[in-house]
Formats: sequence, C-alpha cells, structure tokens
Amino acid sequence: MLAEQAARAIAERTGVERHRVAVVLGSGWQDAAAEIGTPSASVPMPELPGFGTPSAQGHVGMVHSVAVDNTPVLLLMGRQHLYEGYQPSDVVHPVSAAIAAGVETVVLTNAAGGIRDGLRVGEPVLISDHLNLTGRTPLAGATFVDLVDAWDPELRALAREIDPSLTEGVYAGLTGPQYETPAEIRMLGTIGADLVGMSTVLEVIAARALGARVLGISLVTNLAAGVTGAHLSHAEVLAEGHAAAPRLGKLLRGVLERL
Ligand code: HPA
Repeated sequence: MLAEQAARAIAERTGVERHRVAVVLGSGWQDAAAEIGTPSASVPMPELPGFGTPSAQGHVGMVHSVAVDNTPVLLLMGRQHLYEGYQPSDVVHPVSAAIAAGVETVVLTNAAGGIRDGLRVGEPVLISDHLNLTGRTPLAGATFVDLVDAWDPELRALAREIDPSLTEGVYAGLTGPQYETPAEIRMLGTIGADLVGMSTVLEVIAARALGARVLGISLVTNLAAGVTGAHLSHAEVLAEGHAAAPRLGKLLRGVLERL
C-alpha cells in the first residue's frame, strides 16, 4: 500500500522509527512551525511516495521531524487541495502515511473565513464539528465511519488549558478555489457553519477511519464574504497568518508538550 511505502520512507529519511503526532500546517500556519522546535530532519514532500507538491502559495512542501520534549512529531508543511485538481485519495495521503508511520494524534490546521458574529481576524478557533460540502469522500466501499466526536473533545479541552480564550466553531469545507459569494455565506450561516474554508474535512474523515484522534484549529484570516463588504484575497490570508504566527506556534507547542 502507498501509505505504508511512504511511512517506510519517512522512517528511513528521518531516522525516526515511529512518530507519534502529525501536525498539518495549512495556509497561514507555516510561520508557526519555527516556534515548535528545530527539525532533526527535513524531507521535501515530492521525495516521499505518493506525496505531491503543494502548489498553493505559502505552502512550503516539506516534512519536518521535530522532537517536542521526547515526543517525535511530524510537521507536514502544506497540503494538497481538491482545487489543485487532486483526488480525495491524494488529499488525504499525507495523513494516511503519517498514521502508517505510527501517528496516533493528528492536528489539522487551516485558514478560514469567519462567518459567526463576533469572530475576529487573527483569532484561532477550535473546530468542534464540520460540514463536508465538497461532495467528495476519501473512503471507498462500505466503510461506515462514525463521525460523532470526530473532533476529539479531550484534545479541545487540552487546547483550552493552554489558551482559555479559545472558542469553538463548526467548519464548512468547500472545494473552492473561488471564495464564496455573500449569498453562499448567508446560506452557510443558516445551516450551522461558523467558519468556512477549502480543506481539512476529507483529512479528518480519513484519520477517523484509521483510528487516529484529531484536533482541528482554524485561524480566522478574514471575515467571510459579505460580512463586512470587504473584498477577499489570498495575500490577506497569508499576511494574517504571518502576524498570528507567534500565538499559533505557542498554542501548538503547548498542545504537543501535553500529548
Ligand atoms: N473562504 C474560504 N476559504 C478561506 C477563506 C474564506 O473566506 N479564508 C481563508 N480560507
């Protein structure tokens, strides 16, 4: 299986037989990696079996191995998205490979538009649940995966020990790459979404199917379309990530130290 091949390559290239935690750093989160620790090994994603080259601007495309205290952690610097033309199996491959490499806990991060009233730009929000609006699934065949508490309540509580000001929200995952219309955002708010983005929902499904625990954190990089009337841009998403990096890095490091 491709995930096992990639897991063997990760072990060989990093010199670490089993990693315990994987963190997927999405748009806006790349700078936070520096706060987590100095990698003992780094591998370009395209050199690992089945990994593609993330093309979204601001995705570094490296896999770092970092020991946090004594916990071996894989930092996946960037991800592949449906909007880049990838299939669901490609999108979730790094997460599947990490789990095959021993990972029991997956931390998924992303940039999101804030829909719910009161969310502020620059604020990290714990993902409490999601709406998979991509119309796609990474699962094949009769794989009936339970998604109740897919976003692990204990891990959320642990994150709140580090930052008690963290709020929670429901993340709506769409395919993109266009941002939403104001009408779509009104609809998403009506059906229960607090946050909106173009990733993450397929990865949590795959991780739960493989039995890993998942923590999700969105960085609100902008208020969603129509909330203020402002226009949206990827440059803004990256700039807000840059500004929030110290806070995000501290939060991630705090979580990793407690796992
Ligand atoms: N919509 C979709 N994806 C996003 C947004 C948004 O407003 N902000 C960051 N990623």
